[in-house]
Amino acid sequence: MAWLLNEKQMEGKIDLIYIDPPFFTQNKFNSEIKLRSKRVRTLAAIKTTAYSDQFNRSLPDYLVMLASRLYLMRDLLADSGSLFVHLDWHAAHYVKILLDEIFGEKRFVNEIIWHYKSGGVSRRHFARKHDTILFYSKTANYYFQPQQEKSYNRGFKPYRFKGVREYKDERGWYTMVNRKDVWLLPMVGRTSAERTGYVTQKPEALTDRLIDSCTPQGALCADFFGGSGTLAASADRLGRKWISVDSGELACLYAGQRLARAGAAFDFYRFEETEKNQLNIAAIKIDATVEPLVGSEQKRLRVRLVDYRLPEDWTFPVSQEDLPLLRQVLTQEPLLIVSAWSVDLKPDGNIHRPERLLSRDNDGLAIEFEAIGRQFGSIGVAVTDLFGNRSYMIVEPKEFV
Ligand SMILES: C[S@@+](CC[C@H](N)C(=O)[O-])C[C@H]1O[C@@H](n2cnc3c(N)ncnc32)[C@H](O)[C@@H]1O
Repeated sequence: MAWLLNEKQMEGKIDLIYIDPPFFTQNKFNSEIKLRSKRVRTLAAIKTTAYSDQFNRSLPDYLVMLASRLYLMRDLLADSGSLFVHLDWHAAHYVKILLDEIFGEKRFVNEIIWHYKSGGVSRRHFARKHDTILFYSKTANYYFQPQQEKSYNRGFKPYRFKGVREYKDERGWYTMVNRKDVWLLPMVGRTSAERTGYVTQKPEALTDRLIDSCTPQGALCADFFGGSGTLAASADRLGRKWISVDSGELACLYAGQRLARAGAAFDFYRFEETEKNQLNIAAIKIDATVEPLVGSEQKRLRVRLVDYRLPEDWTFPVSQEDLPLLRQVLTQEPLLIVSAWSVDLKPDGNIHRPERLLSRDNDGLAIEFEAIGRQFGSIGVAVTDLFGNRSYMIVEPKEFV
């Protein structure tokens, strides 16, 4: 956010910000990873940490983390813009006070209740079946287009009031009213088409409603705790521009794959955090060549991902039982745990700007990348594995004449 404000001069440029930050549940969230090998049929699903929501078990630590970011969000928002903060019973009431302070009590527009049926129950309290989305506007002149929803008549029978239009569907008679602030929407289920497999993924039906009501076509929407890219996917489909940010490698991976599959056009920026010990721990082998194209001034760059190995002493986050099999598979198919890789044709040593993200899908992983151009210098190659480890290297392509 600081980079958007300082380097990209984006103060007041974002029309809608939705965030779905950790809820202060004090848990760690795992994602399940399935390896698909043609040689070995059954490989157990592997659990790996997607993100932690612990914050030293300190509510003040959590609120400080969020507050410092909410100030930046306020600066990024356009005067006609809106902010949505998605939380639940753990911290919503404390964050409401923060938002009153940062945006002003008068800028509080709605408390949206997302009601769902999934999840557990308790013998000690009423079953917790809703999340809270706090809606603030930057100024009093915010963009808002009320959307309509069905309101079923009592007993599903027609009222026949004068001047009131009534409709009928398979449930019965209804009128159309402006959308209310309690939304019953299913969570993303196991069999849902939009399921990415990322933990705590939210349904696009929810983010669609926010975007439809609070932005015109072409507006810019952003999510600074983007996870698997739900807001971005909604925004892209609805003809809005988007920014999706996440601090987790796994989240960026899921979001990148999801948006690439949806046919979205986007740049992928990565800000190095060199203090993270998981950077550059793998040994990677890349073959890169440049050759002239016959009868043309152009050249062809070919980059091939040849090998990927984690260090011998790396602790795989799998059970002791699965470990021997996993090691055996990896000696035969070392690229099996590579989930995505990308090539930056003009590495600047700071931000990685890939030409294309080559990510694993049901057909496996594409291990070759090609580009045509007049001149190629050194290239930057980033490789991410299924556990979120990321490695980066600068490669000098071999030039053939
Ligand atoms: C509840 S999940 C978001 C899920 C997302 N709405 C979706 O539908 O996939 C919260 C996300 O916040 C990310 N996160 C946590 N702390 C962060 C930080 N300081 N900056 C950016 N992202 C952060 C986590 O990695 C996690 O992906």
